[in-house]
Amino acid sequence: MRTFYLTTPIYYVNAPPHLGHAYTTIVADAMCRYRRLQGDRVHFLTGTDEHGDKIAQAAAKAGVPPQAYTDKIAAEFRKTWDRLGISYDDFIRTTEPRHKRVVQLILQKLWDAWEIYFGKYGGHYCYGCERFYTEKEIVDGKCPDHQTLLTYIEEENYFFRMSKYQEWLIGEIESRPDMIRPERYRNEILGFLREPLQDLSISRPRTRLEWGIPLPFDDRYVTYVWFDALINYVSALGHPDGERFKTFWPHVQHLIGKDILKPHGVYWPCMLKAVGISLYQHLNVHGYWSLGGGKMSKSIGNVVEALALTDKYGHDAFRYFLLREMVFGLDASFSEEALVARLNADLANDLGNLVSRATTVIVNFAGGAVPAPGNETDQELLLRTTFERVRDDVHAAMEEFAFHRALGSIWEFIAAVNRYVDSAAPWALAKDPARSSRLNTVLYHLAESLRCSSVLLAAFLPATSEKIRKTLGLGDAPIAPEDFQWGRMKPGTKVVKARALFPRIEERKPSLTEKEPAVTEPSNRVSIEEFRKVELRTAEVLAAEPLPKAKKLLKLTIKLGEETRAIVAGIAEHYTPEELVGRKIVVVANLEPATLMGVESNGMLLAAEANGVISVLSPDKDLPSGAKVK
Ligand code: MSP
Repeated sequence: MRTFYLTTPIYYVNAPPHLGHAYTTIVADAMCRYRRLQGDRVHFLTGTDEHGDKIAQAAAKAGVPPQAYTDKIAAEFRKTWDRLGISYDDFIRTTEPRHKRVVQLILQKLWDAWEIYFGKYGGHYCYGCERFYTEKEIVDGKCPDHQTLLTYIEEENYFFRMSKYQEWLIGEIESRPDMIRPERYRNEILGFLREPLQDLSISRPRTRLEWGIPLPFDDRYVTYVWFDALINYVSALGHPDGERFKTFWPHVQHLIGKDILKPHGVYWPCMLKAVGISLYQHLNVHGYWSLGGGKMSKSIGNVVEALALTDKYGHDAFRYFLLREMVFGLDASFSEEALVARLNADLANDLGNLVSRATTVIVNFAGGAVPAPGNETDQELLLRTTFERVRDDVHAAMEEFAFHRALGSIWEFIAAVNRYVDSAAPWALAKDPARSSRLNTVLYHLAESLRCSSVLLAAFLPATSEKIRKTLGLGDAPIAPEDFQWGRMKPGTKVVKARALFPRIEERKPSLTEKEPAVTEPSNRVSIEEFRKVELRTAEVLAAEPLPKAKKLLKLTIKLGEETRAIVAGIAEHYTPEELVGRKIVVVANLEPATLMGVESNGMLLAAEANGVISVLSPDKDLPSGAKVK
């Protein structure tokens, strides 16, 4: 058993949770879930950063005392993570006594060890970033991040002797190539360390800022918010002698966005070294989401709206998009269109259809109990080796936080299973009693493939994985590390037909700002005479088969009174052939024939559609085929 401790940044409570915060927290959640499935002992920490100018100003603006203000927003963060199903083990707030105690303890220790001194400093200060900028960093007298004018302030403060750790830090980073990853961020820190490192001002005079943790050795000052905040990673574990600290600290990995690389890549290692705490194992740094091309600022309401899409499309679809779309470490662009496109293609089509096709054939041809397999052929062997390769690729990708690669691999397996259903064609085998052993082999392997998919997906799409497991009769069994082995599906397990896991979303180019379209008055009315020209009749589906190369089309052979004809219907993404055979439907019988993908279609099936869900119309009483519909 391995031990794993993962932290997210603690988020500022001056604004409600938004897409950026959600991304980091979802990434951490997927990682922790994955490691728990492997049987590892995991501790997952998130929380809120509640001191400093920014928060004090936001509280003042809201007209409430800072503590009441932070209580409210911290609760909002917690509620959001609970709603999203984030499996955090602990939530730390920097206003909690357990945190303040450790901050003061560390400050006292550093003061006693002469690591902190009192000095004077004048510099250009940004209130947004809560830090001083050096001449070199300033752009046209403004903060390079906020583009606001900087204020020159000169004051006496306490300083941490960070400069003396410069050579040591360079040595650490050089000797451990993956300490900061991906590599571009390691290089960024090493680049920064080529310039002389300054000491770090770690206090703010109370005359200027009241809202912070008082220095234990001079209560005219409060602690600089970054010095306070970074300590959350050890205070939450009960440093210095808490059991959790001893168990988890040696295995710590941090997860952050690139905006806070410097405090984590420079200040924090130096602080740890000075206090005598071992360094973190890895600093994992991800890129930034931009919204529809533009740079996404923390103050734009749109990022909050973007997070609201998780409720519109479902948390699993939202997680899938974020984890699949962003190459970990690089920037990515968020748009509702891109989310819907992935939902339709990868989730509704590749995954959802597979689950519904596979469970349907097991129910229809094996009475819903997974049969014992007969002899395996190369087709089954290929399925197994594909699964094993994918499982190992996912594992390697997850070691490096490469979520996009992990999901890409899982979808290779899903594609392989889709190909397997097509080529093994269980519906054709079911027609021939002499081939029942082969049919059983195919049905067993479909059930096993779905089981394996549910295991692979569990960390990324937890609710979907659970739904798949329920249809497979495995709903109550928690996933164990052994479940990553092929062949654990037990014959006899009861399977039920899966409902559409992800309804297709009509692609109507939605945008974040678009309002719901107004309901329009009916126009283009038709007279009863005109309507009577359309000959609607009931028909019975005798056979249904997919059309090669046309993903959306099914060819239906229908009985219309005494006549048999073929029609082509665009419903292959919503119905399996098995679901249609034997069913009564309604068709337009006198439609001009049309040739679609080489097949002449003589009529048109009627179906209702809303929100991407398609429902084929059927009479609700048993009428003979050919009955007139009027
Ligand atoms: N309170 C500090 C962190 C202290 S950690 C000891 C802070 N808070 S924050 O609320 O501004 O959150 C910053 C973090 O939120 C980023 O590092 C990143 O994890 C996440 N993101 C915020 N906006 C983001 C994007 N646009 N894109 C991706 N992640 C972003 O900084």
